[in-house]
Amino acid sequence: MDKQIYITRKIPETGLKLLREKGIKFDMGTSKVPPTKKEIIKALKKKKYDGVISFLTDPLDKEVFDACPTAKVFANFSVGYNNVDLDEVKKRNICISNTPGTSATAVAEHTVALMLALTTRLVEGDEFMRKGKYKGWDPELFIGTDMKGKVIGLIGAGQIGTEVAKILHYGFGSQILYSDISQNVELDNIEGTIRKTTEEILREADIVSLHIPLLPTTHHLINKESLSTMKKTAFLINTSRGSIVNEKALVEALKNDIIRGAALDVFEFEPKLTKGLSKLSNIVLTPHIASARQSARDMMAEIAVKNIVSALESGKAINNCY
Ligand code: DGY
Repeated sequence: MDKQIYITRKIPETGLKLLREKGIKFDMGTSKVPPTKKEIIKALKKKKYDGVISFLTDPLDKEVFDACPTAKVFANFSVGYNNVDLDEVKKRNICISNTPGTSATAVAEHTVALMLALTTRLVEGDEFMRKGKYKGWDPELFIGTDMKGKVIGLIGAGQIGTEVAKILHYGFGSQILYSDISQNVELDNIEGTIRKTTEEILREADIVSLHIPLLPTTHHLINKESLSTMKKTAFLINTSRGSIVNEKALVEALKNDIIRGAALDVFEFEPKLTKGLSKLSNIVLTPHIASARQSARDMMAEIAVKNIVSALESGKAINNCY
């Protein structure tokens, strides 16, 4: 295939090998931090690229598309594609694709790890030890919360939510409540699982975990009002997209014991932290690493390249988002 693409940052060798096998030439950005829009535009203007492999940190909008009018496909190396201006895409003859199904296991395991970090107070204990504060066994030290018997509320029950439900139900005997735009037959077959409204989940769950995409309708779904409807003893977990949570409201809720704790892997102003978040002891923070497994990254690279190949061959990506 006599084509050339631009890859905004390094992707695993599995994807590059596939490109070479297909005879697709590529240039690849070398920055370790997300390139700015200006840098992406500068790189795209250098050649008449036929396609682009982009990252969730790359804004794909009018200016970027205009910088490379020859590109017929932008294949996102991620499941989420909230970095893409879909209204702009609709006006153009281009494909946008993502990598669904590549990280469900990894993200689900990370989600459960965050829940356990909160209920066992693992991070607080680790910090206490490192600071040399441990003076001997104390029956009142860092009293945690049992996971067993807790009601888990999943807001969004796609592949990731389903994996989380299975780990918690079969591993901890949790009752699962879920809200989703569709009925989830696999979850419905798990004993005790009930589909509820998002409002009911917020009111009834001991641990609320977010597994929905960022859309205009989900932006700040978790805000001052919704937090105030949660149990005072509840935990909130976000491994989806930062802006689903109004973090200023979350800081206030955590400070004022409106809920007991939270864990975030994604941030409203990523990579910046909302003021006050890092000062709280009842929150666990990880740097958007829920899907960071080599197996997931390899699969993401392979699928992104397959989407490029399919779009260049047939005008349609395998995982077309639009
Ligand atoms: C995704 O794929 O959308 C994750 O957020 C990053 O792996």
